Amino acid sequence: MTAPTQPHAWPADLSSYCFEVPHSDSSVLFEQAHGIRLTDTTGRSYVDGMSGVFVTCFGYSCEPIVEAVSRQLRTMPFNPPLHGTNPDALALTDGLTRLAPDGLNTAKLVNGGSEAVEAAVRLARLTHRESGESTRYKVLSYYHGYHGATFGSLSLTGRPDVARFGPGLPGAVHVWSPDMLASVLGVDAEESGRLAAALLEQTIEAEGPESVAAFVLEPVIHLRGMAIAPTGYLDRVREICDRYGVLLVFDEIVTGFGRTGNPFAAQTFGVTPDLMCVGKGISGGYAPLAAVLFNDKVASVLSDGSGPSSFAPSHTYAANPISAAAGQASVSLFTEGDFVRSNAGLAATFLSHLERAVDGRGDIRSLGLLYGVKLSATPGTPTGDLGSLVAGACLERGLIVRGQDDWIVLAPAFVTSEEETAEIARILTDALDKVYGGRA
Ligand SMILES: Cc1ncc(COP(=O)(O)O)c(C=O)c1O
Repeated sequence: MTAPTQPHAWPADLSSYCFEVPHSDSSVLFEQAHGIRLTDTTGRSYVDGMSGVFVTCFGYSCEPIVEAVSRQLRTMPFNPPLHGTNPDALALTDGLTRLAPDGLNTAKLVNGGSEAVEAAVRLARLTHRESGESTRYKVLSYYHGYHGATFGSLSLTGRPDVARFGPGLPGAVHVWSPDMLASVLGVDAEESGRLAAALLEQTIEAEGPESVAAFVLEPVIHLRGMAIAPTGYLDRVREICDRYGVLLVFDEIVTGFGRTGNPFAAQTFGVTPDLMCVGKGISGGYAPLAAVLFNDKVASVLSDGSGPSSFAPSHTYAANPISAAAGQASVSLFTEGDFVRSNAGLAATFLSHLERAVDGRGDIRSLGLLYGVKLSATPGTPTGDLGSLVAGACLERGLIVRGQDDWIVLAPAFVTSEEETAEIARILTDALDKVYGGRA
């Protein structure tokens, strides 16, 4: 490998440079960030329409979090995890459980969303085992969801591109989400919810209820272009899980931490799961952090004779003081900063700008500060991956959104100003005009 001559620019001879997988010479080399803007090594500026990836909800230069992390770095960067924890980790778990729906009284801190999902699966299996139901090991999840990149979380993901890694977690069983049923059968949202719940029940029956440990789901499915659970569906799921003794796990790694109009989507939908995975926005992006929260039934298996070690294996960096400080500062800011109220104002403004930008070229799905646009294929539109084309056209114009298949998604930071909202909408309009053959 030859060292690049300019330390912060792509080297001229790319063939001799060792890239960080999966990046290539077309990847942006970000160098600086302030507010909701990033700058690359060539000085180009980008406005971030999706908070990194649902992470930087307070922007890239949030002083209280920077302060808390800097202070912690100087005081104690790490503590022996086998012998104790640290005050910020305790304060953070306390803050999280206060924000969470009633009943989710215990939290386990981890380093990222995939680990949180793994922890939830381990806890679910352990709970059944300790309650004398050790035959329950299967975990249901959606086809075409996303739960992470570790083997267990990947096994729950249920996407065709995962199959290339070979057999996954034994007992991973997939079911159809309401959104998949709506698109395949052409039924409306409410009917898709009824059908998906009926199929869930049939799947549990067919697999044998005594073998099913948990159902893990995203209340809003990001990789389906923000497919929002239809009215009444999650209540039905809760009722079915209760009836069959299946633990319900919400993967709120995208939806959690203020994105849907409440601290968690569980509160927005009025349905409380047994376990809830949270990540991304939890630290505002200032340190790797995630958590799984759970109810007393699950917690009880950790405090019986076998003690906390029954949760092993844990992770070396879990609840480390730097991440805990970032999380504690972020959760305190969210709680004390009245963001639930201010986000509601931003969400309404953002939606009206987005509607004008999309202007009939797709169906908008929105819940709080999560937005998806299912792009319409019209005569003359390029065939293929419209979502990537629109996201690419946005990036060329200095706007970061995500796009794939027939959708794009946006998730603005909570601190996005009205001017920045207008700027995001203007760039998106230009990008759509470009892809849809020009309208302006
Ligand atoms: C819904 C959902 N679950 C789990 C994960 C995995 O989180 P991480 O990438 O932090 O491991 C993601 C990541 O995008 C996600 O969107």
